[in-house]
Amino acid sequence: MKNIFLCILTLSLLACGEKSTENNTSNQEPTPVKPADNGKGVGEIKEVTLNDPLNEEMIAGGQAIYDLKCSACHKLTNQRVVGPGFAGVTKRRKPEWIMNMITNTDAMLEKDPQAQALLEECLTRMPNQNVALNDARNILEFFLNNDKSQ
Ligand code: HEC
Repeated sequence: MKNIFLCILTLSLLACGEKSTENNTSNQEPTPVKPADNGKGVGEIKEVTLNDPLNEEMIAGGQAIYDLKCSACHKLTNQRVVGPGFAGVTKRRKPEWIMNMITNTDAMLEKDPQAQALLEECLTRMPNQNVALNDARNILEFFLNNDKSQ
């Protein structure tokens, strides 16, 4: 228990995308990961194969879901609204983690140390958005494109 608590405390320093940037040159330690935690999160997504180049149709599909279900709480910059801004999310999280967070939100908030740290920081619980797996994959493509153009 004590370890988990420490882990959450440390992770919360990096939460919500405000204080950290992808090229963080401050003297913060890298995010500690529990030995059993592979950083991919909790859920059925174990392995994601990325497209190179990105798939335009998938990006458009992801954008449509974002506009509909996510934009009220998440901006595409690093500005926090209710949840963290999405800028750089594909750099700070593994693709599997992102998809598990989108499709398995409740379990992630209960069991995943990185998600729990975000919850501590944001003080609001992300509601389960009922996003289908293929839609979540499209959102990931949209995030990758968003990070490419920043
Ligand atoms: C009612 C507000 C709300 C909505 C709507 C919402 N989220 Fe969230 N989201 C949050 C909060 C708050 C967090 C931080 C974790 C927590 O506190 O539960 C979060 C965290 C996340 C994270 C982790 C971000 C990071 O920096 O690691 C991802 C990815 C994410 N949400 C994706 C989505 C997607 C995709 C949608 C739309 C399908 C969505 N969210 C809809 C509130 C929301």
